[in-house]
Amino acid sequence: MTAYLTINHESTSLHINKKLLQRRASWLMRHNKVQHHDLSILLVNDEEISWLNNHYRNKHGATNVLSFPSGIEGCTVADVNTALAKELGDIIISFETAKREANVLHISLHDRLTWLIIHGMLHLLGYDHERSEKEAIAMWDLEKKLIQQLQNSRSSQMTHLAINVDHVATVRNTRGTAEPDPVTAASICELAGAAGIVVHLREDRRHIHDRDIRLLRETIKTRMNLEMGANKEIIDIALNIKPDMVTLVPEKRKELTTEGGLNVSGQKKKLEKTIRQMNKAGIPVSLFIEPDSKQIKAAHAIGATYVELHTGRYCDSTCERDMEREFQYISTAAEEAYQMGLRVNAGHGLNYQTTSKIAALDTIEELSIGHAVISRAVYVGLDQAVREMAKIIRDASIVF
Ligand code: PXP
Repeated sequence: MTAYLTINHESTSLHINKKLLQRRASWLMRHNKVQHHDLSILLVNDEEISWLNNHYRNKHGATNVLSFPSGIEGCTVADVNTALAKELGDIIISFETAKREANVLHISLHDRLTWLIIHGMLHLLGYDHERSEKEAIAMWDLEKKLIQQLQNSRSSQMTHLAINVDHVATVRNTRGTAEPDPVTAASICELAGAAGIVVHLREDRRHIHDRDIRLLRETIKTRMNLEMGANKEIIDIALNIKPDMVTLVPEKRKELTTEGGLNVSGQKKKLEKTIRQMNKAGIPVSLFIEPDSKQIKAAHAIGATYVELHTGRYCDSTCERDMEREFQYISTAAEEAYQMGLRVNAGHGLNYQTTSKIAALDTIEELSIGHAVISRAVYVGLDQAVREMAKIIRDASIVF
């Protein structure tokens, strides 16, 4: 379920950032525990809102916001949560009035629109400022509180891009020479805006070598995320190198790439021991898992700091229906993990088409992306390939 934002007169010169408002509305829905409903937000001009105001409320002239609940009018918040209706209702806002108000208040149009979305949403949740002064004050206070919480929320921070440079090493290793060097590539990625570098030190060393790990530890300026299987030799290397974090993955010698998430519940003892060892050395641990409630609960139970949700099936979907279903699994799993206090990353198979939707989930902190960026770098250069991906994530995830 989600917030749908529609703008009448898209050609307006106001340059309204739809994604930004949608993301804020989704946060507000989650915060008010109505995330399983649909909400429609329509931005219209003064003439249109005047007509609606007159037709439905018998009031003359333009107003800033109108809200129309769908069949759950007058419900309490608790009622709304249990209501069978999947539609929360409609919020209609005049962007022309909002713009004038933003100028008077010296705030941005987007912040004014956000405030009006909050106002409309509270009406849909049963709050009313016209019934009594007491209720008006309560509603006003709640609006202010929600604005503040939204500004301070994790969702006000952008999702980060971490680049996996394993594939640079793969190309190098085909000739057994020193080029291209994943260490140099990592620096270019950082200069182009990557917030972290991921490398997978495999037991068979098929791409990243021990020398790479040592040099990367010295040169990475952002964050080094060492992806690894939980086996003794690699654990000892990690404890020695001390990356900023490790991501534990299942590792099979014959696979082309990591093929699925860890079965955490099936190997709790081994993983718990590894997490303890890493944490003792000050290294937080992420577990790469399927977007599945059982795995999330198990990851939480054994003390993981992060989970990385496997996005492979979402990316590999061949029709829109499957893709939407897989996306919902990721979205629900990210929400559950976040609510439990786990930090949430995601990755595998993400490309220039599939990343935006995942980056828009405000529960997700970091995306780990390798193959798509390194592939594009062959055509456009690594710097540009990283910048393009960073922009996709920035555009999808920025809130304030
Ligand atoms: N996350 C994990 C756990 C992985 O194993 C990989 C692949 O190495 C990635 C993310 C990045 O996947 P891709 O190369 O498909 O972007």
